[in-house]
Amino acid sequence: MAFFCILPVILLVGFIASFILTAADCPRGARPLLTGTLPLLFEQGKLLEKIGVCSEIAFTRYVFSGWKRGSDPQLRVSDSRLGRVPVRVYQPRAPPAGPRAGVTFFHGGGWLYGGIDSHENICRYIARESNSVVVLIGYRLAPEHKYPAAYEDCLNATIHFMKNAEHYGVDPANITVCGDSAGGNLAAAVSQTLAGRSDLPSLRAQVLIYPGLQALDFNLPSYYQNRGVPLLFREHAVFFMLHYLDGHALHMQEVLEGSHIPPDMRLKYRKWVSPDHIPPKFKVRGYKPHKPHEFKAEFFEKPERLGEPNLCPLLAEDAVVQQLPQSFILTCEYDVLRDDGLLYKKRLEDNGVPVTWYHLEDGFHGIISLYDYCGLSFPSGKRGLDSIVNFLKGL
Ligand SMILES: *[C@@H]1O[C@H](CO)[C@@H](O)[C@H](O)[C@H]1NC(C)=O
Ligand SMILES: *[C@@H]1O[C@H](CO)[C@@H](O)[C@H](O)[C@H]1NC(C)=O
Repeated sequence: MAFFCILPVILLVGFIASFILTAADCPRGARPLLTGTLPLLFEQGKLLEKIGVCSEIAFTRYVFSGWKRGSDPQLRVSDSRLGRVPVRVYQPRAPPAGPRAGVTFFHGGGWLYGGIDSHENICRYIARESNSVVVLIGYRLAPEHKYPAAYEDCLNATIHFMKNAEHYGVDPANITVCGDSAGGNLAAAVSQTLAGRSDLPSLRAQVLIYPGLQALDFNLPSYYQNRGVPLLFREHAVFFMLHYLDGHALHMQEVLEGSHIPPDMRLKYRKWVSPDHIPPKFKVRGYKPHKPHEFKAEFFEKPERLGEPNLCPLLAEDAVVQQLPQSFILTCEYDVLRDDGLLYKKRLEDNGVPVTWYHLEDGFHGIISLYDYCGLSFPSGKRGLDSIVNFLKGL
């Protein structure tokens, strides 16, 4: 199947390369270019699916899967398993002064894409610059493996790592979970599960990079303001969440309109999920409040599943949130998920958890994992990555 995708991919890569060359010179100008290219990518996937060549998901997965890199003089990079979960381990080569800090990294890609090869640059950067052992978790992907498969793999691998930390020269009391996008969702869920467990050392910290944390409201200000901003359109955010949960996205339109949540459930979570908790300075750029459409019980039989914190960590009880470790949250202004991050920041702060918040005023979704991607680097992405490294070094 992948073979048949290769030709359009080559054509596409040529096209992307040409825009990257332009973008490298002019990061600000990249935005309109990206706007033009990414929809094309998804459209091309749809077209291929229609003509029966390969599925849209298989196509995008192929494009975003990454590739094997050469060796790194400063790191020992090896593939292995933690329990049954495949992982890639990045260890600094320099002899350590003592036990190192450890970072388990959960990659982004909407729970559908990405893997062991897809976040090579940022894992290497974090391992090198923070002098920690980084373990990238190759969790199972949807739609083949639906929720909670990815979450369980991340949890099992993290526990396994904590129990065997000495084997990697890591201090088990100095382990941080970290993830971008869907990986930020997984990191938040794993953190909550491990909070308050007495049989394991506490996590040292959690690092959430533009995480997706809820599925109740896809009309918060950031979703509205950035609905057509790449790399994550509003409808893609819904598409990913539904595939993770159900393995399909048949009722995407209804979810976009808010018909998937019964009124009592909406009311119950208003205290945590509502535009009222977004500071006014973020409600600009043409934001219009949205009145959710009527609940459609015929399509959504078990809406209460969207209240499960392992799926939507923003909805965890205060008693859990209070026990969370010191946190770092990165948000981007041009990102539908900005408000998920802002709302979680508020929940952590309201519960007395120390939060370091880094907001990229000119950032867009995906900017961190694009670091040094095909020679492309956005200065703002580099600043974001350095703020993560500084946070880790300061722990
Ligand atoms: C944890 O790791 C960080 C980063 O390497 C280091 O600065 C810090 O001293 C470590 N903390 C402890 C308690 O060992
Ligand atoms: C994860 O751990 C649970 C409980 O320890 C176990 O039931 C499950 O099979 C494990 N899953 C994987 C993928 O290792």
